[in-house]
Amino acid sequence: MTEAINAIEMHSIVKRFPGVVANDHVDFACQVGEVHALLGENGAGKSTLMNVLAGMYRPEAGEILVSGKRVVLHSPQEAIAHGIGMVHQHFMLVPPHSVAENIVLGLNQPRFLLNLSHIEEQVAALSEQYGLSVNPRAKIWELSVGEQQRVEVLKMLYRGAKVLILDEPTAVLTPQEVEVLFHTLRDMTKRGHSIVFISHKLDEVVAIADRVTVLRRGKVTAANVPAKGTTKAQLAQLMVGREVLFQVDKKKAQPGDVVLAVEGLCADNDRSLPALRNVSLQVRAGEIVGVAGVAGNGQRELAEALTGLRRPTAGKMTLGKIALDRHTQWLKLGQQLAHIPEDRAVFGSVAELSVAENLILKRFYRPPISSGWSINASAVRQNADRLVVQYQIATPTIETPVRMLSGGNLQKVILARETSERPYLMVAVHPTRGLDIGATESVHKLLIEQRDADTGILLISEDLDELLSLSDRLIVLYEGQIAGEMPAEGADIHTIGLMMAGAKADA
Ligand SMILES: Nc1ncnc2c1ncn2[C@@H]1O[C@H](COP(=O)(O)OP(=O)(O)OP(=O)(O)O)[C@@H](O)[C@H]1O
Ligand SMILES: [Mg+2]
Repeated sequence: MTEAINAIEMHSIVKRFPGVVANDHVDFACQVGEVHALLGENGAGKSTLMNVLAGMYRPEAGEILVSGKRVVLHSPQEAIAHGIGMVHQHFMLVPPHSVAENIVLGLNQPRFLLNLSHIEEQVAALSEQYGLSVNPRAKIWELSVGEQQRVEVLKMLYRGAKVLILDEPTAVLTPQEVEVLFHTLRDMTKRGHSIVFISHKLDEVVAIADRVTVLRRGKVTAANVPAKGTTKAQLAQLMVGREVLFQVDKKKAQPGDVVLAVEGLCADNDRSLPALRNVSLQVRAGEIVGVAGVAGNGQRELAEALTGLRRPTAGKMTLGKIALDRHTQWLKLGQQLAHIPEDRAVFGSVAELSVAENLILKRFYRPPISSGWSINASAVRQNADRLVVQYQIATPTIETPVRMLSGGNLQKVILARETSERPYLMVAVHPTRGLDIGATESVHKLLIEQRDADTGILLISEDLDELLSLSDRLIVLYEGQIAGEMPAEGADIHTIGLMMAGAKADA
């Protein structure tokens, strides 16, 4: 084999944040024409390293070489000028603008010099060339998450990215969209692009990567491992430093009384179109009911209706003996109703507040946290100290703002707050999205423990493996209706897939 050319090299990169060394003398190299997977647990330093490469962060030490030449990158614009582009986990698109407008936004050209129809043609050509189908004239808000991601990739290609960094690109995609993305990535490598691929989904890594580099607590623990012939278990071992069971240990459920009864529920989505049509379901104490479905088939609206974030247009919901309607004081339901929201940064936590403060968000008004007029500071500390140990939350201190925690640890803060009071019902939405395998394992354990402590759990997830291994019963949502229901044990993944695509249970 001839020696492959290095597209980029990073030597001995050091990047610190208050209280942590996010990158501790990290070496990393990506060759021309390869997909290089960057793996590591939550907080290992993957995004930080790639933000350094993409010109977002300046490292305290170390150097970057592009095609063998040393470069200093002060901004993302300088990085892209050297052919390095990054697609972040949170997209940076402007919703009211069109695809083409977003693609040229931020390019340093006066607006009047931009010929929009010419740009639209160029974008259409690029999207044709790379199989990234999207209408250049569509507004961003009209697009699905998968399409928005294509716009981000196109934006980078338009600017001439040779090295494309994708930070957890598949976390928000359906299995079908993942296939399409992988096709595009393979195509890009054939054209001489290099891809840095960050993911927690080891099946995908085995499927798409040529080589793998692993970070653990800011340091490289394995570099340039060929992906071919490597198993998921070996990768997991490299990441976590111990064996990982890809299986959930659980006893048979002992369902009790009905804790949630939903009858004829209807609700609209954000565009005022019907999203839930006459949905009826029950959840009993001590069971996990999984809701399967392709994103956009009413799962979000169901979770929002149940947690008071969206007003139904028809139907009845009962939690234990409490009717959930517009007279419900949702805040006061905190003890009976737990919610693990889809967007943990927006609804699940308050970024600027500390770990200790986030842990009391649901009970600051009750003793022992509240003492009449004021908050009892020592009770707040005791509560946080206890939960940080019990839920193994990795944080520098309990005073640290939660925006500094890694994704997995932020999720543990929310779980600790929501489960420490034995609610009747828990609505868990994508509870392990973006979490590493270790954190996923502990969230799964926590959910099973919660079930065994008699909470009824409604689990909404797009990860079929997760649904099948955790749930006792499964419901499939399609276009806002229940397309089928079955026990999870022995459920056939193929049948579920068909129902998710609209086939009726009896077909
Ligand atoms: N802007 C920031 N301010 C302070 N600390 C930060 C910041 N960004 C990251 N960190 C810290 O640096 C460390 C590495 O974080 P980073 O986001 O790079 O991890 P990651 O490997 O991408 O994790 P994940 O899989 O959860 O995305 C973590 O301890 C994190 O808390
Ligand atoms: Mg990250």
